[in-house]
Amino acid sequence: MKNHNIQPLLQKNYLKAVSARGVYITDENGKRYLDGSSGPVACSLGHSHPALAEHFGKQLGKIQFVYRSQFGSEEAEQLAWQLARISPAEEYQHSFFVNSGSEATETALKIAIQYWQEQGKASKTLFITRQKSYHGITMGALGVSGHQLRRRQFERVLWGRPEKLKKDLEAAPLDQHLAELETIIHTTGAENIAGLLLEPVIGAAGTALVPPEGYYQSMKEICQKHELLFMADEVMTGLGRTGSWFGLDHWGTSADIATIGKSLGAGYAPLAATLVTDEILAPIRQGSGLIMSGHTYSGHPLSCAVASQVLTIIEKDNLLENARQMSGKLLQGLARIKDRFDFVQTVRGKGLLLGMELDPAVPGLQGKIIDRCFENGLLVYPSAGGQAGTDENGLLIAPPYIISGTETDALLEILDTSISQVAQSL
Ligand SMILES: Cc1ncc(COP(=O)(O)O)c(C=O)c1O
Repeated sequence: MKNHNIQPLLQKNYLKAVSARGVYITDENGKRYLDGSSGPVACSLGHSHPALAEHFGKQLGKIQFVYRSQFGSEEAEQLAWQLARISPAEEYQHSFFVNSGSEATETALKIAIQYWQEQGKASKTLFITRQKSYHGITMGALGVSGHQLRRRQFERVLWGRPEKLKKDLEAAPLDQHLAELETIIHTTGAENIAGLLLEPVIGAAGTALVPPEGYYQSMKEICQKHELLFMADEVMTGLGRTGSWFGLDHWGTSADIATIGKSLGAGYAPLAATLVTDEILAPIRQGSGLIMSGHTYSGHPLSCAVASQVLTIIEKDNLLENARQMSGKLLQGLARIKDRFDFVQTVRGKGLLLGMELDPAVPGLQGKIIDRCFENGLLVYPSAGGQAGTDENGLLIAPPYIISGTETDALLEILDTSISQVAQSL
């Protein structure tokens, strides 16, 4: 039968997945795959979680949707309360719900612009971001992203300024990063900049790249000095992925505006949010009284009820602790693999957001390993790496937080076998 559904590669015939449970997905031929990447680093509770299935059914029978400009909902309020409670120092008091990480970025950019506008500073509309960054696929979110492979066809219509932060996060000392930020603020003019937007641990655009100690605290101080908002894209890192609720928790700091997505709906609901502090909301509340963003399905009660249950399960089942423990085990295993193969250059990450950078000089290595893993029943996720973030040489290993010790061993074994097979074929 002709396939009318558009998938990423138009020439490829994708196998159909027909069922999934726990960390395993089964295809139409009955073959099982260990979900070593939680899909696109999203399915953090694994698949067909029994508590969620039950909750979903109950909620459907109660209320599934109301439009947010006509009614409020207990479900959205409950979720926003939970998010405020788990946020760093309970700073993220307010949530604006949307349906994807890209939309969360769009809303974050708009809130930042509005925040300044409503205080008479309308020229503050630009955003400083990193060269190695991905904040989403919609035009505004792509405009602030550095990810070359995803930007290049649309470069002419995307924001070209200010300069992106380019210093190597692993090699350059902290003072060089701070000096780079100061220079960009100086050349662009603080009066033109709304904020600085950064992913706490760089995922798809940086292969789980972790900035140095003290980095975010110091970047935030510079933002405060020059009247820039400090904004965190926690779409990938948020809600336990790095072993704590928020990525910025590892640096003991928080943002003025943060975005979350992926693990919020955890694959059970398409949900994301822009989170803001009291201080950010105040001038908008006192000014226009309206955030000019939102979508038909913003604050969808069914999605919010499911996400609320996701957070409850993470807490009740102590999954942040499991993520930390499995992270240690995985990192040890990945380090052993790195020792055996010269073309594995780096292994790094935090929690269950781990990355492996491969030698970009060996052609096609990333694709070969991903394909071999797939054949052997393991899913891993491609990411960009290299000095400029333009090499297609990274793998993200990011299994669900529910993964057990035995399943972690199985993941490592398939990865090891697959890499050995690719090495032999070179
Ligand atoms: C850090 C980050 N921000 C934003 C996004 C965009 O999220 P979505 O694909 O849900 O639009 C992604 C997606 O990979 C991401 O990794």
